[in-house]
Amino acid sequence: MSLLTLTLFILVKLLVLFGLGVQLSILSNASTFTRCPEVCICTADLLSCTRKNLRHVPVTLPPTAITLDLSHNAIVRLHDYCLTTLPHLETFRISHNKIKNITQHVFRNATYLLYLDMSSNHLHTVEKYYFEDLVNLKELLLYNNKIVQVDEKAFMTLINLQKIYLSWNRLTKFPFESIQKLEHPYLRTLDLSANNLSSIPIQVIATLPTYIKNGLYFHNNPVNCDCSLQEMLQEWKHRGYSSVRDFIEEHTCKAYPNMLSLIKTFNYNEYFKICSWNQRKFDIPEVLCRVGESLVIDCNTSLHEDNTTTYRWISPRHELFMYPEHSDQTHQPLKNGSLKIINANRSYSGVYECIAISDLQKINETYEVNVTVHYSKLVESFSTSLTTLLGCIVSLVLVLMYLYLTPCCCSKCCRKPTSPPQDCSAQSSILSTTPSVTDVTNRKISANKHVVFLEPIKENQNGKVKLAVTEDFDVNPPKLLRLKLDSESIGTAFSNPVMSPADA
Ligand SMILES: *[C@@H]1O[C@H](CO)[C@@H](O)[C@H](O)[C@H]1NC(C)=O
Ligand SMILES: *[C@@H]1O[C@H](CO)[C@@H](O)[C@H](O)[C@H]1NC(C)=O
Ligand SMILES: *[C@@H]1O[C@H](CO)[C@@H](O)[C@H](O)[C@H]1NC(C)=O
Ligand SMILES: *[C@@H]1O[C@H](CO)[C@@H](O)[C@H](O)[C@H]1NC(C)=O
Ligand SMILES: *[C@@H]1O[C@H](CO)[C@@H](O)[C@H](O)[C@H]1NC(C)=O
Ligand SMILES: *[C@@H]1O[C@H](CO)[C@@H](O)[C@H](O)[C@H]1NC(C)=O
Ligand SMILES: *[C@@H]1O[C@H](CO)[C@@H](O)[C@H](O)[C@H]1NC(C)=O
Ligand SMILES: *[C@@H]1O[C@H](CO)[C@@H](O)[C@H](O)[C@H]1NC(C)=O
Ligand SMILES: *[C@@H]1O[C@H](CO)[C@@H](O)[C@H](O)[C@H]1NC(C)=O
Ligand SMILES: *[C@@H]1O[C@H](CO)[C@@H](O)[C@H](O)[C@H]1NC(C)=O
Repeated sequence: MSLLTLTLFILVKLLVLFGLGVQLSILSNASTFTRCPEVCICTADLLSCTRKNLRHVPVTLPPTAITLDLSHNAIVRLHDYCLTTLPHLETFRISHNKIKNITQHVFRNATYLLYLDMSSNHLHTVEKYYFEDLVNLKELLLYNNKIVQVDEKAFMTLINLQKIYLSWNRLTKFPFESIQKLEHPYLRTLDLSANNLSSIPIQVIATLPTYIKNGLYFHNNPVNCDCSLQEMLQEWKHRGYSSVRDFIEEHTCKAYPNMLSLIKTFNYNEYFKICSWNQRKFDIPEVLCRVGESLVIDCNTSLHEDNTTTYRWISPRHELFMYPEHSDQTHQPLKNGSLKIINANRSYSGVYECIAISDLQKINETYEVNVTVHYSKLVESFSTSLTTLLGCIVSLVLVLMYLYLTPCCCSKCCRKPTSPPQDCSAQSSILSTTPSVTDVTNRKISANKHVVFLEPIKENQNGKVKLAVTEDFDVNPPKLLRLKLDSESIGTAFSNPVMSPADA
């Protein structure tokens, strides 16, 4: 027995020890889970380590973080895989540091990142491999660095980009061709202002879709003044693109190659005297179409003769249509470059943009059409005549009801003038006939309330009818009163002018 108790005792002890051990290991794991660096402030999913004079990204970081803020420190380089331990990270701020370059593996596996702020650092270039893993990135802030060059393929994989800020750098050129292939369907802002751009490839920029041109900022650059640039900017101004409208004073250009001073593109007219452009070209041709109809819009460019030309259409809602594969039930691009819109409805109204690309002549051209889908006049007039007809029928039915239904009811009332039945008085609020002379004193017409009780009196039995109007009846709004009498000596009065049988 004692042996058994001893074994049991030892077993229990072992279990307790084991339990303790497990608890301890859980505890130790728990302490490693909340890996908040001493210098940082950790909240539920936000990690802030700003203005701490950090020289490196802290190695242990809580994996739950969605936002990591390391701005205003002295970080010189980011180590490889520095964000791999943060699988949920969406926002990374590391502005106001001293980062010069980024190696290939820095942003490996940071595929959830949506927002990256590397502004105010010391970046010198933007290489192809810098951000290529950030396939979900929406906003990239690189302003106020020392960037002189951007690789043509730097944004190639970042197809979800909406905003790129590259202002206050030292760019002398930008690879506009990289955004020309329309591989960034969500791109709405590309800020290249306050750089060192001396020439703008107008041929390329002019053929970008409106949704990019509207947010393509390149003011405050020493671009060379020329007529084609001036014409393009005048067109953008005419169309009200934000990139020109919001910075009209800051659009400058270099008029004289040997002088440093710049002139304001929209103020200085002397220089642009020699330029002439067709203001009418700025107006977008309009096409009208009725709801439910189909229409074909042509892409009227000079490249029509060229049989190597391909066409892309961009709808007002930024959808891309291209012969033959990019189409939907409503938008069918045709082989000859035109776009067919089937069963149009009002939501298709807006500016359609066509981009014609000629392989042979190595030029691209754009053409815009302002489509307005409207309800046809026929439908409108049909519906109004229908309502008139319905109104007539209702009035007619009311008159008939009155003619054939009310007399039997009121004949009951007349028999018992001392106690008028309830149903009869209820009806009298609309129509009322009481041929009894004894009721004259009860007749009251209240014009103020716009409900008129009008009662014709049968004086004799010879069918003659006289209107009895009491003294307190104010005849000022005579339009409210319409009276029609028939041979049966019955008067009808409608207080509502819409219901007036006179219209019938
Ligand atoms: C604690 O962490 C270690 C490795 O860090 C792991 O092997 C162990 O399974 C963890 N224990 C518990 C209870 O999670
Ligand atoms: C990146 O910067 C570091 C120091 O800032 C430098 O040692 C290294 O050579 C640079 N690498 C490249 C590829 O420029
Ligand atoms: C990156 O992610 C891949 C797949 O998601 C994984 O196989 C790889 O181990 C990860 N790399 C690192 C350094 O965590
Ligand atoms: C025309 O557009 C295509 C595709 O967008 C582009 O690859 C090509 O460089 C453009 N050519 C010119 C001359 O703009
Ligand atoms: C701007 O570019 C020109 C050459 O196009 C160069 O001479 C000049 O130094 C650059 N300016 C700055 C501030 O980088
Ligand atoms: C096509 O464009 C030319 C000039 O660009 C113009 O003369 C012509 O009327 C246009 N045709 C149509 C159908 O819009
Ligand atoms: C385009 O036209 C040229 C002659 O103008 C012809 O030689 C060529 O075969 C045509 N190409 C196509 C794809 O039709
Ligand atoms: C293209 O074809 C459609 C129908 O086949 C036609 O309506 C349209 O006018 C054509 N456009 C041109 C520019 O030839
Ligand atoms: C127009 O058509 C689209 C798709 O065909 C549909 O989603 C939309 O509801 C329609 N709008 C109206 C006002 O009928
Ligand atoms: C397109 O046409 C409609 C109707 O005429 C007009 O209200 C609208 O301003 C036009 N849009 C543009 C960009 O010209």
